[in-house]
Amino acid sequence: MEYHVKDLSLAEEGLRLIEWAEMDMPVLRQIRERFAKEKPLAGIKIGACLHVTTETANLVRTLKEGGAEVFLCASNPLSTKDEVAAALVKHFDIPVFAIRGEDRDTYYSHINAVLDQTPQITIDDGADLVSTLHKERPEQTEKVWGGTEETTTGVIRLKAMAKEGLLKYPIIAVNDALTKHLFDNRYGTGQSTLDGILRATNRLLAGSVFVVCGFGWCGKGLAMRARGMGARVVVTEVDPLKALEAVMEGYLVMPLDEAAEIGDFFCTVTGNKSVIRKEHFLKMKDGAIVCNSGHFDVEIDLKSLREISTQVRTIRKEVEEYTLKNGKKIYVLSQGRLVNLAAAEGHPSGVMDMSFANQALCVEYIVKNHKTLQKTVYSVPEEIDKEVAKLKLAAMGIKIDTLTPEQQKYLTSWEEGT
Ligand SMILES: NC(=O)c1ccc[n+]([C@@H]2O[C@H](COP(=O)([O-])OP(=O)(O)OC[C@H]3O[C@@H](n4cnc5c(N)ncnc54)[C@H](O)[C@@H]3O)[C@@H](O)[C@H]2O)c1
Repeated sequence: MEYHVKDLSLAEEGLRLIEWAEMDMPVLRQIRERFAKEKPLAGIKIGACLHVTTETANLVRTLKEGGAEVFLCASNPLSTKDEVAAALVKHFDIPVFAIRGEDRDTYYSHINAVLDQTPQITIDDGADLVSTLHKERPEQTEKVWGGTEETTTGVIRLKAMAKEGLLKYPIIAVNDALTKHLFDNRYGTGQSTLDGILRATNRLLAGSVFVVCGFGWCGKGLAMRARGMGARVVVTEVDPLKALEAVMEGYLVMPLDEAAEIGDFFCTVTGNKSVIRKEHFLKMKDGAIVCNSGHFDVEIDLKSLREISTQVRTIRKEVEEYTLKNGKKIYVLSQGRLVNLAAAEGHPSGVMDMSFANQALCVEYIVKNHKTLQKTVYSVPEEIDKEVAKLKLAAMGIKIDTLTPEQQKYLTSWEEGT
């Protein structure tokens, strides 16, 4: 079996961590048990480009139990857990091509190693696999039945491809499932981003000014959790509706230009580029801490920061100190890459349980329906979303009410009024 991981001797530790994650992934576990019996993915090759974490390990195990052959590479050079990669190879016979800290060339060679297997289904997180396939190996797209996309940034890229008529096979936007973004992006990013910042810095959040750039699903979660830790939270936005929502939630809302002067912590979660730029760095307080939890490392303009700095040094793991020509120091976490994955362990398993349950069920859906799907980006079918919510509630031991026949009728009729 071909694979490329850092060190197979890490496999025992990786196995224990995968089992630990599995304990808090009851929905995916139930799907795996069904897949093991029914083998809905028998004979299918799947190419997956995902953060190589313990939760991803449980997803790819599930797909394999369903009968698929799965090949895995990383969706970010800094998010791979080498022990997990080793365990997948050694204990589950799943070929993994991922090494934490790999350079850009290795990152893309790993994506190509997965594509060399000519998968019928792709699973992507950020759309690097799909865009590499379309750009570098267009003839191979004909062999793909369909794919899924995990995150907001990937969905934006794929919708842009579809709009230009360039998308060559159907994609299901797993991110758009309610049981994904309402929970993963909000509670997952909220908790794990703070976890990353705290592990990297060990600084006190209480009483600090914490600037959240972007009040989308991730930003809402991050702002909520930072406030919960006692920070005074400032939100910056470009969308008036989101900004208004932040105001009504009780956050201070202002342009980044103003926030730059008062923030102790800055975290971008916009999915946009060059959000924090030279003019902002120049206004920041001495000792400001800057990081990103959006998908790509483009949100903080590190190039301009380097240009205005006289010295850069690593001060502790995941923390780089930039000394500016004006004498101030600015600290950047995890090189501006996803701080929750680079400095911590990404989302907790309990929330990835729902995201990856959607992934597994959407892969099954593509296998069943690929002949009728068009070359466009689809939302997750409502029945899958509802099924995931139902299974999660059941796993948590929470029961809810059901509509009476009278209520059902009332909610679909117009005759009854005042
Ligand atoms: N860290 C993680 O594990 C994780 C998890 C899920 C999603 N993501 C990524 O996080 C990013 C945000 O995802 P989301 O689901 O919150 O997206 P979203 O579309 O819900 O929110 C993004 C928000 O940023 C705002 N924005 C855009 N440009 C801005 C600017 N220059 N200044 C201030 N605000 C700006 C938008 O108006 C929007 O409200 C994406 O890149 C997504 O892929 C990361």
